[in-house]
Amino acid sequence: MTDSLFTPLTLRGTELPNRVMVSPMCQYSAEDGLVSDWHLVHLGSRAVGGAGVVMTEATAVSPRGRISPGDVGIWSDEHADELARIADFVRSQGSVPAIQLAHAGRKASKRPPWEGSAPIPEEEGGWEVLAPSDDPYPYEEGEAPETRAMTEGDIDAVLDQFRAAAERALDAGFEIAEVHAAHGYLLHEFLSPVTNHRDDEYGGSFENRTRLVREVTETVRDVWPDEKPVFVRISATDWLPDRDSWDLEQSARLAPLLAEAGADLIDVSSGGTHPDQQIPHAGPGYQVPYAERVKEATDAAVGAVGGITEPEHADAIVRNGRADLAIVGREHLRNPYFTLEAAHELGEDIEWPVQYHRGTFD
Ligand code: FNR
Repeated sequence: MTDSLFTPLTLRGTELPNRVMVSPMCQYSAEDGLVSDWHLVHLGSRAVGGAGVVMTEATAVSPRGRISPGDVGIWSDEHADELARIADFVRSQGSVPAIQLAHAGRKASKRPPWEGSAPIPEEEGGWEVLAPSDDPYPYEEGEAPETRAMTEGDIDAVLDQFRAAAERALDAGFEIAEVHAAHGYLLHEFLSPVTNHRDDEYGGSFENRTRLVREVTETVRDVWPDEKPVFVRISATDWLPDRDSWDLEQSARLAPLLAEAGADLIDVSSGGTHPDQQIPHAGPGYQVPYAERVKEATDAAVGAVGGITEPEHADAIVRNGRADLAIVGREHLRNPYFTLEAAHELGEDIEWPVQYHRGTFD
């Protein structure tokens, strides 16, 4: 029988009640990395709205790994305690609580979008950023912060930070851990020859450039229980065909290696490495063909993201076997009840929160 958007998906011992995931979306609303009522209400509403998986925003494994001072973090037990409230609530609504673990690399130390996303100078609270090599992100909005090429010690420290973050996320009650290796942040910076000019075992060849993301995935898998899934989000391409860059064929080559390292699902996004990127058409489902190509290359499950806004479209992606999970970002900002409405539109039964029974369509 063909799977639909409302066919549960079992990954390891964890059942996702449907194939809709709330895409990770930074809210830039934390203080010292601690989540607030905003995050509980924001993520909680999307769980009430029926999404099978509710993924937190990029959650920094260290203070330096935050994109902005308002990013959520998980570098202490206090951070995990506050996040536990969110994981508990999401679970209580029948959704699977998931957390995206992240390090922003050379794209750290920026203002939030509503303050222009410009890099923050050190004298105004900005910080030195870490990257595979010392060339800074070519900002159009201002001067980049000091960008330091990571030493072997820095690399070991980042691996330790991902390990500690995964341990804390587990204690906080999350069921899925996603490694953020997309959008031009640290792990993607190692993958791409545009940002990685190292001549040690973490740079140069495909094997070397992919080493850190494989090691981080192994590290997270090592602390994540057997019955719980690990996801990895990648950028399938840098969209920089005019230069030596990260592209779809390398992503297809990487996917089975990530699966071997312990990834159960590859979440396929794109871009973010360099402002010169040329996206031909960021329309509905524009990254789905990339998910499809990655799916051909691996036995791991695959998630498609980008421009998925219509229930029928999301359903067709799953029914046609193009991806296993429909990941919905901005449409969830417009409509926290996307999944409840999708079930109605597609004629599927879904359990509504008892408090909302009088709001059901029939
Ligand atoms: C994002 N995106 C994003 N991606 C990610 O991996 N981690 C993150 O924390 C964020 N933060 C974020 C904030 C906001 C406000 C937006 C709009 C987007 C990217 C997001 O998860 C998704 O991949 C894209 O938005 C494309 O999907 P949609 O929005 O077209 O469904």
